Amino acid sequence: MLITIPEVLTAEQVAQARQMLDAAEWVDGRSTAGYQSVKSKDNLQLPDGSPAAREVGEMILAALSKNPLFLAAALPLRILPPMFNRYSGGQSFGTHVDNAIRQIPGTQQRIRTDLSATLFFAAPEEYDGGELRVEDTYGVKSVKLPAGHMVLYPSTSLHHVTPVTRGARVCSFFWLQSMIRDDGQRSLLFDLDLSIQRLARDLKGNLVAEQTGVQLTGVYHNLLRQWAEM
Ligand code: NI
Repeated sequence: MLITIPEVLTAEQVAQARQMLDAAEWVDGRSTAGYQSVKSKDNLQLPDGSPAAREVGEMILAALSKNPLFLAAALPLRILPPMFNRYSGGQSFGTHVDNAIRQIPGTQQRIRTDLSATLFFAAPEEYDGGELRVEDTYGVKSVKLPAGHMVLYPSTSLHHVTPVTRGARVCSFFWLQSMIRDDGQRSLLFDLDLSIQRLARDLKGNLVAEQTGVQLTGVYHNLLRQWAEM
């Protein structure tokens, strides 16, 4: 499941973050690429321990911890600290799959990457190209979102970023381990969650609908109990 989470950050937060990111020291993104992706990766990244990365990263994580759509869709268990990249002057990232296991920097803790996230910090009008193209069983999805919006997609997907031919594309990217490893199970829970919320909203005051809602909420939690890994 590929899902857009709109307005993770407000316009003010995006502007504040952009100031910090634009003033930060960027390094060649190949320094963190794996054996396979070093051949196709051409961008800039903020290095580990960059103050701007830490500060904006905390802003993102704080916003996500209060975002109901993100929490319902991702059912996050552990989130890696957000990283940042910048593409300009024709830079791109060829087709690849993200590493399955990543170590949380500065710790011995490893996480399984179930979901990949990209949060946009540049408006689509600011640059040409720079689409994130994600391949899934239904075909290729092309993603280029307004600043402050985020896309979540299964880390199992092949994906690439098309060349940025004008302006600069600035994004945060990160991974998370979900309580629900399987994308199909996670999608079912998300659909059920949305249906229960819609039922509660549309049939408020209808006794039978309310009882059905309670029963379905029970089904949701019992499925979560069966499938969740912590
Ligand atoms: Ni990737």
